[in-house]
Amino acid sequence: MSARTFRAPGRVNLIGEHTDYNGGFVMPAAIQFYTTVTALPRADRKLVLSSAQFPDRYEFSLDERTPGRNAWCDYPLGTAYSLEQAGYKLTGAELAFTSDVPIGAGLSSSAALEVSTALALATLSGHHIPTQQLAEICQHAESEHVGMKCGIMDQFISIHGKDDHAVLLDCRSLEYKAAPIPGHLRLVIANSKVKHELTGSAYNHRRRDCESAAAFFGKPLLRDVTPQEFAAREGELEPQIRRRARHVIGEIARTEQAGMALEAGDYGRFGELMYASHESLKTDYEVSCEELDKLVEAARTVEGVYGSRMTGAGFGGCTISLMEESAVPGFLKQVPPLYTATFGIQPDLYVCRPVNGAHEVLA
Ligand code: GLA
Repeated sequence: MSARTFRAPGRVNLIGEHTDYNGGFVMPAAIQFYTTVTALPRADRKLVLSSAQFPDRYEFSLDERTPGRNAWCDYPLGTAYSLEQAGYKLTGAELAFTSDVPIGAGLSSSAALEVSTALALATLSGHHIPTQQLAEICQHAESEHVGMKCGIMDQFISIHGKDDHAVLLDCRSLEYKAAPIPGHLRLVIANSKVKHELTGSAYNHRRRDCESAAAFFGKPLLRDVTPQEFAAREGELEPQIRRRARHVIGEIARTEQAGMALEAGDYGRFGELMYASHESLKTDYEVSCEELDKLVEAARTVEGVYGSRMTGAGFGGCTISLMEESAVPGFLKQVPPLYTATFGIQPDLYVCRPVNGAHEVLA
C-alpha cells in the first residue's frame, strides 16, 4: 500500500466574529497556508503520529480510549475518535504532518490539522463523508476531545473554501454562498505576534454569557433574538451580558449587510462594516487588545484600504485588512513601523487571496 497526501488550509474571517456558536452568519475565506499530511495505511488499528514542527512521535491504539495529553496529538487523535463516534470505523495509519499555518495566531491551525486528519483517515478507510458532516465531526473533535467549545466556522471553511471567494455561511442552517473577491482586491493579514490570555477559557466564558442572554429572551440562540426584541428589553440585562448580546446581535446584522455590499461591489461599505465590527469586539465583546487596536488604527492611515479588524477569537493574533492590490506596497511600508514604535515587535504580514478547501494532493 502506498502513501497518499492530503492538505487542508487555514482561514481568515472577513466579518462575523463570535457569531458562529450563536447560530449567526460568518464570512471566512480559506488562505494559502496549509497543513499537509502524508498518510500510510496500516494493517492493524494503530495510529502513529509525527510532525515536522514538533519532536515527539505518538502511537495510539484505536481500540483503547486515551485521555488528552495537552499536546498537538490531541487534535488528530480526537478527530479519529470523533470519526468513529459518528460511525466511521477506521483503519490504522501512519500520519506524518507538516504545516505552514502560523500556530496560535488565530488563522485556524487547529482546524487545518483536524480537517487534514479527517480527510486522510476517511479516505484510507474507504468512507465518503458528506462535507458538512465532515466539518461537524472535526468541530466535535475540538470541542469534546480538546475542550475548546468552538463553533463550526473554522472547520467548515477549511473544507468548503473556494478559490477567489469568501463564503457567507449561515451557522444555524449551514446553508452557504460563495461571495466573489475580485482579482484587484487583497486580504492582508497582520500578525501581532502576541497572545494575552488563555483563549480557551475566556472563549468558553463568552459562550456561556451568550447562552444566558439567549435564555433570558426565551430563545435557543442569540440568532433568534431580533434587534427590536433586544432593544425593547436590554435594560433588564446585567451589563456584561447586555454588552455581549449587543455585539452578537449587531455583528450578525453587519455580516448580512457585508454580504450584500460585497455582491454589489461596494467595498467602501464593506470596509465600514469591518471597522464597526472591530469597535464592537473591542468595546462590547472585550476580546481585542492594544496591539490589535494599533494595527487597525495603522491600517486606516493607508490609502486604498477599505477596512480592517481583528480576526478570529481575539486576545492577540491577527488583523485582516481589505484593500486594493495597489495599496499593498503602502501598507507593507507604513504599518510595521507604526506598530513597532509602540510595542517593539515586528509584525508579520501575509498578503492573501482566497483558495480552495481541503483536498488530496495528487502527484
Ligand atoms: C475561533 C473559533 C470559531 C469562532 C471564532 C470567533 O476561531 O474556533 O468557531 O467562534 O473563534 O469568531
